[in-house]
Amino acid sequence: MNEILDAIKNVSIKISQTIKYADLGYSQNQNATGDNQLKLDVLSDEIITTEFSKIASIKALVSEEKDEVLMLNENAKFIIAYDPLDGSSLVDVNFAVGSIFGIYENELKPECLVAAAYSVYGPRLELVICEENNQAPCLYRLDMGDKFAKIKELKMAEKGKLNASGATQKGWSKTHASFIKSLFDEGYRLRYSGAMVADLHQILLKGGGLFSYPATSDCVNGKLRVLFEVLPFAFIYENAGGATTDGVSNSLLSIKVEKTHQTTPCFFGSRYEIDRLKSAYNV
Ligand code: AHG
Ligand code: MN
Ligand code: MN
Repeated sequence: MNEILDAIKNVSIKISQTIKYADLGYSQNQNATGDNQLKLDVLSDEIITTEFSKIASIKALVSEEKDEVLMLNENAKFIIAYDPLDGSSLVDVNFAVGSIFGIYENELKPECLVAAAYSVYGPRLELVICEENNQAPCLYRLDMGDKFAKIKELKMAEKGKLNASGATQKGWSKTHASFIKSLFDEGYRLRYSGAMVADLHQILLKGGGLFSYPATSDCVNGKLRVLFEVLPFAFIYENAGGATTDGVSNSLLSIKVEKTHQTTPCFFGSRYEIDRLKSAYNV
């Protein structure tokens, strides 16, 4: 596992340097969920693939930017599912973006998620790692010597002040629209950049609030991808004392995974907001 976490640190440094100087244009391809791939998405995916291919304990890689699972070592135990560059369409406006990693043991299902991490390429390079279940995630920051220094353990408060909801509002359900309004009526402030890494990082570090990416009339299963976006963040939020739901079940960590690029509606927050959301959604 340490080898994998060291590789995550190395690729985060390499991707952060690549983002600073590489071409911002589109590649010729679309990924499995139909997004036009940017050259930066492809480069970030290549950086991660090259680094992880050196590690004998990794069985396979599952990437947002690869249609199929990439088998590396048939008898090894870890499968890594990752989003190489989350929020990539915001690099041209110089917003913070990130990479997300879920480390699964033997099978791609929530019960087999053993660790999760994400990096944030913002004014500073930060990394949040949750090394195992029932352990608080930890924040690291790259220092002047190019080493990740441990900053602190992350714990969410019971309740926050921030409200971030994605997707096109005209496609929201009445339930979602009135719930989001009720939080604003209660004094919550709007925060939404369009990169889930940056938005979820802000809520986690400020101690609480709600991030939603609901089902909409045109995307009934939401947009965010279960294996490499939703489950790693659910693992980190719940281990930080927060809560999650898909609007139907008690936790995002009870989702049934049926395919690699499956998406789901998802909600992450501190306990108070998720409890309120669950009663609004009748969970
Ligand atoms: P990616 O750049 O990996 O495709 O992910 C973008 C995702 C996510 O980061 C963000 O929360 C969401 O797309 C934003 O979508 P909307 O603009 O529909 O809210
Ligand atoms: Mn993403
Ligand atoms: Mn991405």
